[in-house]
Amino acid sequence: MSESVKIKNTGLRGVAVADTKISYIDGEHGILIYRGYGIEELADRSSFEETAWLLLRGELPDREELKAFKDQLIAAREVPGFIWDCLRRLPAEAVPMDILQMAVPLLAVADPDLKDDSKEANLRKAARLIARMPVVIAGWHRIRNGLEPLPHAPSLSHAANFLWLLTGVKPDREIGRDFDVCLVLHADHTFNASTFACREVVSTRAHIYAGIAAGVGALSGSLHGGANAAVMEMLMKLETEEDIPGWVRRQLEQGQRIMGIGHAVYKTTDPRARVLKDMSRRLGEKLGQTKWYERSVCVEEAALGELAKRGKTTLRPNVDFYSASVYHMMEIPQDLMTPVFAISRAAGWCSHIVEEKFGEAQEKPALYRPDSEYVGNYCGPMGCSYSEIEARGSSSGG
Ligand SMILES: CC(C)(COP(=O)(O)OP(=O)(O)OC[C@H]1O[C@@H](n2cnc3c(N)ncnc32)[C@H](O)[C@@H]1OP(=O)(O)O)[C@@H](O)C(=O)NCCC(=O)NCCS
Repeated sequence: MSESVKIKNTGLRGVAVADTKISYIDGEHGILIYRGYGIEELADRSSFEETAWLLLRGELPDREELKAFKDQLIAAREVPGFIWDCLRRLPAEAVPMDILQMAVPLLAVADPDLKDDSKEANLRKAARLIARMPVVIAGWHRIRNGLEPLPHAPSLSHAANFLWLLTGVKPDREIGRDFDVCLVLHADHTFNASTFACREVVSTRAHIYAGIAAGVGALSGSLHGGANAAVMEMLMKLETEEDIPGWVRRQLEQGQRIMGIGHAVYKTTDPRARVLKDMSRRLGEKLGQTKWYERSVCVEEAALGELAKRGKTTLRPNVDFYSASVYHMMEIPQDLMTPVFAISRAAGWCSHIVEEKFGEAQEKPALYRPDSEYVGNYCGPMGCSYSEIEARGSSSGG
């Protein structure tokens, strides 16, 4: 075998694979910034549309730029009819993240800029993806319930329009704004698994839709975007549980993970979780549904206490822990919670794809191509001796 020295690591943790100007996390101190701006300030003062522009372009837009971008997103909301025809043929039980992952290349088919790989064309494609992914998810939810997708409401923001398309009810100002804040909070998060998947795919010069479809696939897993739905499942299961601390203890004793707790980068509270925890309490009070917040706090306190007893003092709630109850109170079904994460993260994914394709002075090779350590059969440089199928015996022993 080759004697060359290989650097082995676990899941690329701590390995910087590229330069980026898009976002930064200080995991020790619980800091997240987008293009230099702190996440708390963006959550407090910005909108999803403004944040998406910031991520894509690098600077906050001026008034005209923001108006033009909002108009561009509104104009791009219409989804081609053939996509609805395809979705109508699918079984209602289909997993919504699979529907979203399938719809992304269908959206590519309808994009007039598909073959133009210039930066401006990629920014136009990014706007279409950001505008249409929520429309697809809301439309799919209606189709699977035997309803027709609703026409979008041009007067509504990106966030409020999604809730309208999903529920058929125009959200009040506060809920529309809360959902807008959720989209801001989830819009980017450095080189997590799905963002890296997007960048890795387009590093081959594949188009933006191929990258986004890979990102959706990576986000679907329960250790990544799927955790919010798992948190909601847990909160619902605990409806009849009188001893939540005891349940948490038993889970940990059985080697189970408490969903929504812990993070690969944050070693303290995820700053997004702080904003969402407050939102969960406030929404619960407004809607008369404080039980979700109270149950979440009970799980959090019990989990942190039990984990600390096991020497795990850095595990804290992540973004998924309180977004679960927030989304539930916004009437977003459990299996749409991860797609909702995806429609927000589309802004970050597209920004990373544009940076991957056009970034200036990036310290990275043209194409990602990691190495691996081969630990399989090795019979010398000539390989193992190949035997004919008749000579291999039978696994069933017959
Ligand atoms: C997100 C996550 C995968 C990051 O993990 P990581 O930094 O790679 O750390 P590891 O998976 O190696 O876990 C480190 C230790 O903490 C424990 N741990 C991590 N998260 C835990 C959790 N949610 N509940 C219980 N134990 C947990 C692991 O079992 C491991 O223990 P060990 O050292 O005794 O084997 C992990 O915290 C997790 O599975 N969380 C729950 C899923 C979730 O909320 N995902 C959304 C992330 S935004």
